[in-house]
Amino acid sequence: MAIERAKQVFGARYVNVQPHCASFANHSVMQSLLRPGETILGMSLDQGGHLTHGAEVNLSGRLFKAHTYGVDDEGVIDYRQLGDLARAHRPRLIVCGTTSYTRLIDFDRVRAIADDVGAYVLADVTHIAGLVAAGLHPSPIDAAHFTTTCTFKQLYGPRGRLIMMGRDADALSDDGVRTLAQRVQSAVFPLLQGSPEVHTIAAKARALGRLLDPAFGDLARRIRANADALARSLAGRGYEIVGGGTDNHIVLFRVPGGLTGATAERALELCDILVNKNKIPGRHPRGLDDERGPAARRWAHPAGPGARAGDRLRPGAVPRLPPALRAALRGRADGVHGNEGGLIDEWPLSSVSHHLQALPEGPQKWMTAGV
Ligand SMILES: Cc1ncc(COP(=O)(O)O)c(C=O)c1O
Repeated sequence: MAIERAKQVFGARYVNVQPHCASFANHSVMQSLLRPGETILGMSLDQGGHLTHGAEVNLSGRLFKAHTYGVDDEGVIDYRQLGDLARAHRPRLIVCGTTSYTRLIDFDRVRAIADDVGAYVLADVTHIAGLVAAGLHPSPIDAAHFTTTCTFKQLYGPRGRLIMMGRDADALSDDGVRTLAQRVQSAVFPLLQGSPEVHTIAAKARALGRLLDPAFGDLARRIRANADALARSLAGRGYEIVGGGTDNHIVLFRVPGGLTGATAERALELCDILVNKNKIPGRHPRGLDDERGPAARRWAHPAGPGARAGDRLRPGAVPRLPPALRAALRGRADGVHGNEGGLIDEWPLSSVSHHLQALPEGPQKWMTAGV
């Protein structure tokens, strides 16, 4: 049932519903195709990519020779750089998909580059799968050879993953014997995993069923509208929005001078607003980088100086946020439409709050707010 529903939702021809987590799904695809020492090309971690796309500290970077591409000064994927690197290094696999990126991903363009150099394409749509399902983001299913997504972020399901394939599922792989789908199938089991978690697969089927409900399309459209409203509101208050706006659910903006993203993230968290800090793409202006400094400590706790890390606001206390952050929050409240309370009633809170978190950690000055 989970397989059939995923095929229906995403228009896929092959689906594997067993991967226990997103990282395993990406490793499964890599293990199905590559030998240690072969070359991959993925988006750099500090430009919005994910650890499993070839970062040094991850198995993907340890096993394979990984090269990375990034975004241009406008915060848009640098497809020209991607093409140049592909031609220079002739990777066997190009990974696209992001953890921190606000513009549409041009999967067809990545595929054209891959075809040019004889590479396979893995699209990791973990962060935008719901928008893809709702038709609000171009689908990678036929453009990429392999598409992976987790099931607990935008799909509002259990922790776990899907691997999907479109038109290339039955294509003969480069061993000349097995199809690409057969190679993925045996990479998930028995190469990397053991028994299937049937209870989790049942929960995936349930979540995928909800994606078929027209109400999911309404939710996705509200998420998009809210993200646009937040970006507009922040831009109207003078914040620099990376990429000039957003095409998805993420708004990435530069925190005001004198703050780090880490500090702002902490301050907002103490007000029960969950966001993620993220690294600045392109350039690295200096600011208050030392979070142990007295000024940083003052900002870090909305209750003011003297508060210790880990303290929470006293009930009823009025948060003393830096003025710029207060304005940002007001903007968020003014600009957002749709019923967030209703949204939380309708959809599991953990999914919604994860949505709000959206992005990974690092030494940073940009903030992202998922809506
Ligand atoms: C794009 C992307 N791929 C993979 C992962 C890894 O997910 P998991 O924690 O399920 O292994 C993440 C995590 O958020 C991600 O953002």
